[in-house]
Amino acid sequence: MQMVTDTATGRDAGVSIGGVRVDAPFYQAGLAGYSDGAMRTVAREHGCPYCITEAMLDKFLVEGGKGLKIAELTGDDHPICGQLMGSHPADIAAGAGILAGMGYDVVDVNLACPVKKIKKKCRGGHLLTVPDEAVAILQAVREAMDKRPGGGPPLTVKLRRAYDDTPEMAANFRRVFEAAMDLGYAGATVHCRTVQQKYIGRGRWPFLRELVREYGAEARRRGFVIGGSGDIWTAPDIFSMLDQTGVDWVSVARGCIGNPWIFTQARALMAVRAGAAGVGGDAAAAALRLPTVFEQRDVLLRHFELSVKLHGEIMASRMMRKFGIKFSRHHAAADELKKAFIAVQTTRDWRAVLNGFYAADGPGVDAGLSAEALRDRGIGDPSRSVLPYAVEDEDLVCVPLGEG
Ligand SMILES: Cc1cc2nc3c(=O)[nH]c(=O)nc-3n(C[C@H](O)[C@H](O)[C@H](O)COP(=O)(O)O)c2cc1C
Repeated sequence: MQMVTDTATGRDAGVSIGGVRVDAPFYQAGLAGYSDGAMRTVAREHGCPYCITEAMLDKFLVEGGKGLKIAELTGDDHPICGQLMGSHPADIAAGAGILAGMGYDVVDVNLACPVKKIKKKCRGGHLLTVPDEAVAILQAVREAMDKRPGGGPPLTVKLRRAYDDTPEMAANFRRVFEAAMDLGYAGATVHCRTVQQKYIGRGRWPFLRELVREYGAEARRRGFVIGGSGDIWTAPDIFSMLDQTGVDWVSVARGCIGNPWIFTQARALMAVRAGAAGVGGDAAAAALRLPTVFEQRDVLLRHFELSVKLHGEIMASRMMRKFGIKFSRHHAAADELKKAFIAVQTTRDWRAVLNGFYAADGPGVDAGLSAEALRDRGIGDPSRSVLPYAVEDEDLVCVPLGEG
C-alpha cells in the first residue's frame, strides 16, 4: 500500500495496528445501536479505512445463537476490529478466540462504556475502578491470542481518560494504559471524557496531549498506536485533534452518524495536507463540499438496501428511521424532514418521506459546528447541558450488542 506523508506533521499519514495497515489517520468508532455492517459499508464507500464493531458482550458470543450471528462478517468489511466487553477474564478471552476464528483483523477490549454495573460486576469503563481486574482481563485476552497459531490478531483497548476526576482514578488509568503497552497490545484509543461524564460536556483534548507527551516516544518505539476520541464533529476536527494532541489517529463517533461525508471530506483534507491538491484555502474549501439532495437520497437508499440484507425490511425501516433523523440536517428543510423521519412507522412511511423530500435536487446544508466553534459558544462546557446538534437523549446510551 502506498504511504502518504502528511506534510503538516512530516509523518506517515496512516497507521499500522500490529501489522494491519490503515492508510488514513481516522476510523469509524464502535457505536452501539448504529455501527452495524450496513453503516460500516456506507462509511467505507465514503473513504473510511477502518471500522470497529459496537461492543459485543463476551457471554453472547460464547453462548452462540443470535449473539454469534450478529458478529458474522461480510467479505468486504475489512480491515475490521471486533470489540468485546465483559467482566470475567476467562469469558472475554473465550470471546476473543471466537472473534479471531471469525476473521476479525483486530480485537479490541472495551474498558470505556459507562453503562451501569450489572449484578455488582464491573465491566466497560467501570473496570477502571478496579485496575487489577482490568489488567487481568487484558492479560487473559493476550494469553488466549498467544496460544493461537501465529499469535492471533493484534489487540487494542478502548479506555476513558479515568473513571472520575480523583487522583486515585488518574493512577488507575495509568496502570491500565501501561499494562496494555507492557502486554504487547498494538494500541489504545482514549475517550477524553471520564466514565462519570458519560457523553456530556467537553472532551479534554489537553489530556490526550499530555498522554502523548508522556508516553508517545516509548509507544512509537514499541509500535503502540495511540488513538484519540471525543468531540469529533467535522472533518477539520480530525486534523485539529491530530495537530493539537499528537495522537496517531482519531476515532470518529457521533460526528459520522448520518454523516458519512465526514470521511470523504477527511480524505480530501488529507490530500490538501499532503500537498497533492495544493495547500490553500480554496482547496480546503473544495474538500469540504456538502452533499447535494440527490447524493443524500442515494446514500439513504444504499444504507437501506444494505440494512434490508442484514435485518430484513421491517427491522431495516426501524433502523433507518433513526439514521434518517441524523441525515436530515444536510437538507434545506431539515426541521420538517426530521419530524417526518420521527413519524416513520412502516416501510411505506419511510419510502413516502424519501419520495417527498428528496424528489428534487438542490445544494446540501450543514448545521454542524466544529469542536472549536462549539467550544466558543460554550457548548461542551461540563457545567451546561446544551448538547451539539448530533446528540440527542436517545444517543446517550451505549448498550452492548445482544443486550437491551
Ligand atoms: C450511541 C453511542 C454508542 C456508543 N457505543 C460505543 C461502543 O459500542 N463501543 C465504544 O468503544 N464506544 C462507543 N461509544 C463511544 C464513542 O465511540 C466515542 O468514544 C464517544 O462518542 C466520544 O466521541 P464523540 O464525542 O466524538 O462522539 C458510543 C457512543 C455513542 C454516542
